Amino acid sequence: MSRNTVRDIQRMKKSGTPITMITAYDYTAARLIDEVGVPMILVGDSIGQTTLGYENTIPVTVDDIVSATAAVMRGNRNSFVVADMPFMSYQASTEDALRTAGRLIKEGGAQAVKLEGGVAVAESVRAITSAGIAGMGHLGLTPQSVNQLGGYRVQGRDADGAQQIIQDALALQEAGAFSIVLELVPTELAAEITEMLEIPTIGIGAGVECDGQVQVFHDIMGLSLDFTPRHAKKYAQVGDVIIDALGRYVDEVEKREFPTDYESVQSARPQTKSNVTELDVASGN
Ligand code: KIV
Repeated sequence: MSRNTVRDIQRMKKSGTPITMITAYDYTAARLIDEVGVPMILVGDSIGQTTLGYENTIPVTVDDIVSATAAVMRGNRNSFVVADMPFMSYQASTEDALRTAGRLIKEGGAQAVKLEGGVAVAESVRAITSAGIAGMGHLGLTPQSVNQLGGYRVQGRDADGAQQIIQDALALQEAGAFSIVLELVPTELAAEITEMLEIPTIGIGAGVECDGQVQVFHDIMGLSLDFTPRHAKKYAQVGDVIIDALGRYVDEVEKREFPTDYESVQSARPQTKSNVTELDVASGN
């Protein structure tokens, strides 16, 4: 299998094939995702909460995303990889947007970038696209504006709000965006936008009618210990598995049950070919 391209993703909308996207921020998760063959990865600025321990996405830097994207690219060979443009790395000017997008592509190795907002960022999307970079929009709940929105709430519930999101979606498509994330917008509105647009919509808490779905890796794997949003179904309780394993490790160390002879290196033993153990070989002894 070769790596998905933007054309593969757009073809999926045309053929009516649902598009799965998941976030990743490191090499190990990217390798696990590769075992399944998920069409799209988002190196999201949710790295702020999931990995860096911030309260929200606002402190995340371009360097954070560049280094996470490079790790994801090293771990994964098949998914189409989109990198998030962090807060205030593109809002001040089109030049900022171009520079940030350029770094994520050149230094991180991403195949596309994502930025939040509609009409307000359409010129930046146009500039990025003109520079040969694929740009993804993000509408509805835009977490980088959490302080302005007053929390993580559903967007587009009233007629004016819905109309604004529709206008934003059309502006992004017209500016050249290849796809749009719709976060926490009512199912009916997401369905209407999906029907209206030629480019794929990827929903998160936006119903099943979107062309695809994106979820945060830590949320659906049961790794988010503090809070999991309602829209995130827990497909596994990996956090519980790790806590249990760590507990048993600590217990065995404290009882001197670990390491056993098997996990230890014996010294002063003449080594012939027949008694070189796997451990000797692995440790290069
Ligand atoms: O950063 C992120 O994980 C995102 C998703 C919520 C779409 O932007």
